[in-house]
Amino acid sequence: MAKPTTKYVCQSCGYVSPRWTGKCPNCDGWNSFVEEAPTPLKVVRKSGGVASKVGAVSLKDVDALTDVRFPSGVGEVDRVLGGGIVAGSVILLGGDPGIGKSTLMMQVALHLKNKVILYVTGEESPKQVKLRAERLGRPTDNIQLLAETNLESITDVIESGSPDIVIVDSIQTLYNPNLESAPGSVGQVRESTAMLTRIAKTKNIPIILIGHVTKEGAIAGPRVIEHMVDAVLQFEGEKHYAYRILRGIKNRFGSTNEIGIFEMHDTGLREVVNPSEVFLSERSYGASGATIVASMEGTRPILIEVQALVSTSSYGMPQRTATGFDLRRLQMLLAVLEKRVGINTGAHDVFVNVAGGIRIDEPAADLGIASSIVSSLRDVPVDSQTVAIGEVGLGGEIRTIAFCDKRVQEAAKLGFKTVIVPASNAKKMRSSAGITIVGVETVQEAIKRLLD
Ligand code: TYD
Ligand code: MG
Repeated sequence: MAKPTTKYVCQSCGYVSPRWTGKCPNCDGWNSFVEEAPTPLKVVRKSGGVASKVGAVSLKDVDALTDVRFPSGVGEVDRVLGGGIVAGSVILLGGDPGIGKSTLMMQVALHLKNKVILYVTGEESPKQVKLRAERLGRPTDNIQLLAETNLESITDVIESGSPDIVIVDSIQTLYNPNLESAPGSVGQVRESTAMLTRIAKTKNIPIILIGHVTKEGAIAGPRVIEHMVDAVLQFEGEKHYAYRILRGIKNRFGSTNEIGIFEMHDTGLREVVNPSEVFLSERSYGASGATIVASMEGTRPILIEVQALVSTSSYGMPQRTATGFDLRRLQMLLAVLEKRVGINTGAHDVFVNVAGGIRIDEPAADLGIASSIVSSLRDVPVDSQTVAIGEVGLGGEIRTIAFCDKRVQEAAKLGFKTVIVPASNAKKMRSSAGITIVGVETVQEAIKRLLD
């Protein structure tokens, strides 16, 4: 049988070439050619021919996706997916190599006791997978292993075996023998995803694809297929911490606000049900430069310690470094402190760190960061029983934040005595049992409350 010819398409201008070239003759772009499978010929309608059978249906009559969602058995995964795995959906789980993607998926497989799971392993031998599975739980016979990377064989097994869910570890190891490029190349990764997506939709089987995030190189990262799948989950964490965060980046069947928090143990990933308690467990009591803030992660408030270290700069250019917080926002806060409060850090290095390897990207942490900076500069500790929340505006005003009640409740639950909130929020709040709510209007006022 003649091998179907493939084509190489320039990803910037669409120029088609029969073989790979480094430079596009049309748009002069470098390294832009990606191998693509030949598309089936389009049917050309002759004039007077029969009209297409494809017709539109009323939106009202389309079967909605109710009750075709089933829980994965791992609560934090369901939270991020918006309640469970939707039948026929394709989910991409991305993350750095070694972060725990295979572990997480094997745990999901072990929890799905009444489903037939097809676990396609292209990276590890069945023995290795078995060893891991035994460490994580008791493997049951509803988990089928397939050590295969040939896309055609895999699709055959899915077609004939009709599993309830397919896990592919990883998408970068699969290859379509009809394409010349190596497994892991953009062309192969896209082709594999397209083919698996087609099966997921036609057979209504959910498929989870594991994808390694790669630094520039010969292996295509999961980004190149993000647009083709229904949900994209990112598994992240700092290598030196046991915490892992599962974040929804895209979700066609739910919100992307939620995060799932796990802790890596020798028996696998454990769900963190009370994140605040965990993140506060290593607090530096009595040291200057630390403030507790309440950050919303999805619908959950999490109390986290934000730290700052302000030290005299020995170079002409003072350094500003932020870990887990936006650097430009830090620079803005330093400017506000200088202009509105008269605190000048121009001759100091400023380091900001969010404890526990968490990343805060909401403005409600502003006040906590500002207070940590001033606390470190003056070497005066912030009261350890106080939580500070508020967005800092350019005028030095403390602006209204969302979900203030939830944050205050979380602080009260964990035994904090005082919470500093924006005055506008304080006006609308009922007093909470066991915690004093203090409304502030400006950073100056807040700093006075926190540090004087
Ligand atoms: P793995 O799931 O193989 O990562 P990925 O598939 O994302 O590449 O997990 C890799 C790391 O997890 C490895 O360095 C060891 C650690 N680990 C544990 O700490 N405990 C465990 O029970 C398991 C299975 C892995
Ligand atoms: Mg793996």
